[in-house]
Amino acid sequence: MVASALVLLLLLRKFNEDARSYTFDRYDSRPPGPQNITLDLSYLQGYDISSTFTYARRMITTKPFEGERSTLTKINETLFPDYRILEKGGLSAQEVTELAPLALQVPVFPKFDTSIMSFGIATSIPRLNDSIPQLSHWLSNTSSLLTVVAPSHNDTLDVELAMQNPPISINLNITTSSLPFVKAYFSLVKRLYDSRTANTQWLVLIDDDTFIPSLPYLISHLSNIYDSSKPQLVAAISDDFDQIRTWGMIPFGGGGIFISVPLAALLVAPGVWEKCMASSRNQGDGIFSDCVSIYTDVKPIFDHGLNQMDIMGSPNAGDGYFESGRRMLTVHHWKSWFDADIPLAAKVSEVVGDEGVFMRWCFAGGVVLSNGYSIVEYGEGIGDVDLSKVERTWDGTDGRWLHHIGPLRSKLKEDKKKSFRLIDAEMVEGGLRQIYLHKATEGEAGVDGVLELFWLK
Ligand SMILES: *[C@@H]1O[C@H](CO)[C@@H](O)[C@H](O)[C@H]1NC(C)=O
Ligand SMILES: *[C@@H]1O[C@H](CO)[C@@H](O)[C@H](O)[C@H]1NC(C)=O
Ligand SMILES: *[C@@H]1O[C@H](CO)[C@@H](O)[C@H](O)[C@H]1NC(C)=O
Ligand SMILES: *[C@@H]1O[C@H](CO)[C@@H](O)[C@H](O)[C@H]1NC(C)=O
Ligand SMILES: *[C@@H]1O[C@H](CO)[C@@H](O)[C@H](O)[C@H]1NC(C)=O
Ligand SMILES: *[C@@H]1O[C@H](CO)[C@@H](O)[C@H](O)[C@H]1NC(C)=O
Repeated sequence: MVASALVLLLLLRKFNEDARSYTFDRYDSRPPGPQNITLDLSYLQGYDISSTFTYARRMITTKPFEGERSTLTKINETLFPDYRILEKGGLSAQEVTELAPLALQVPVFPKFDTSIMSFGIATSIPRLNDSIPQLSHWLSNTSSLLTVVAPSHNDTLDVELAMQNPPISINLNITTSSLPFVKAYFSLVKRLYDSRTANTQWLVLIDDDTFIPSLPYLISHLSNIYDSSKPQLVAAISDDFDQIRTWGMIPFGGGGIFISVPLAALLVAPGVWEKCMASSRNQGDGIFSDCVSIYTDVKPIFDHGLNQMDIMGSPNAGDGYFESGRRMLTVHHWKSWFDADIPLAAKVSEVVGDEGVFMRWCFAGGVVLSNGYSIVEYGEGIGDVDLSKVERTWDGTDGRWLHHIGPLRSKLKEDKKKSFRLIDAEMVEGGLRQIYLHKATEGEAGVDGVLELFWLK
């Protein structure tokens, strides 16, 4: 009795002191019962949370596997132990309930030759500087080239050097141009074409807020499905049919426009290029679309993995997309039409890899984790909610969106869906800590809810 208590104590100490070396396999024989341990949770004091709040945490280990990522993985156990009620005042030696670490499987992805893509963005220097956190997630330390055209600015060289040098290390070339924005955008086709290397297969026009969750997956997708040795155009179409009605069945730039080198050669040919540059259209993607449809017989192929995200209605309008578990090749409008902290969401990739970002798991008790975005309690009523459909969390009638993101389901009321949203993600000793917060609504007596996931490295 005494001996086994001593062993338990030693185990707990080891667990506390050395989270890094502690790994637990969900499938091994140890029962995953709750244990009480004391932790220093003072870091929670810095967040904007009520003085009394509910709290639970879980450690997670990831097991890599080779194979397709599923849109929803069911786990037959609860994600969290019972919530504790904590006071902001006394967090430095706080007793909490700890379940054994949970092992989740995350696909690993083979490395791909990133030099086959050359990206182009027309923007301004301050906006480019603001975009560093999102660009560095997918472009840092790759062989893809990034060409930026921007109006002249005193800080151009500073921003260029900061982006080229470690730790950001992006293969960047900034060109200053006095062209109006729409012409600067179209001019990228020739700039990317002229700076292509023997490896370059795709010239890619994006916006400064086009986010790529996984560049390796995007590259493998394009390489497996399309033939870059022919004139080819792969692009996003708007997810809003009203936008298509207004602008036409054209490539929408924010979701990404992928131009094969042979197609670019047709567009930059003498006699074509000058006429396209002289267009009087007032949208950059409109000039591009005209140029392709007037001077070539190439038709755009719309790939529904590329997301223009013409959705709005509330800061959380993007919930439906980010909680769909679907693999998104590109993400757009996340800091303008609605509000999602994408660089923060992507941080978990430092531990789980790019494929684990926005991956979705459903736990016993009706709790769904959309990694890096939210943890939602649907409660036992989850049976009524068809998680294979996308919740339309933005304004407009379903019919406008079905062609791109269907099947859809109606937005749930708050009493059916309690959302904890990611507010922080930080590498700390032993792994990455994510903090998810539910702000108390009226009727919840001002008590916020905090959930913590610790992804063991
Ligand atoms: C852990 O602490 C809680 C709350 O103080 C208590 O109810 C529970 O019995 C304890 N569990 C164990 C395994 O000691
Ligand atoms: C899930 O776990 C419960 C109890 O732990 C068990 O009774 C049930 O059979 C399990 N279901 C599946 C599908 O594994
Ligand atoms: C750029 O620098 C020049 C010379 O230092 C200064 O006169 C000018 O106001 C600056 N322009 C901007 C936009 O900061
Ligand atoms: C770039 O952004 C950083 C961090 O937000 C800021 O400190 C810096 O002043 C910005 N630089 C320029 C040139 O805008
Ligand atoms: C790029 O690689 C270097 C060296 O491995 C590393 O220090 C740096 O953090 C990486 N940068 C990013 C943004 O991943
Ligand atoms: C940057 O692009 C310009 C214009 O395309 C080109 O003249 C220059 O050589 C490029 N610089 C580098 C370092 O690639």
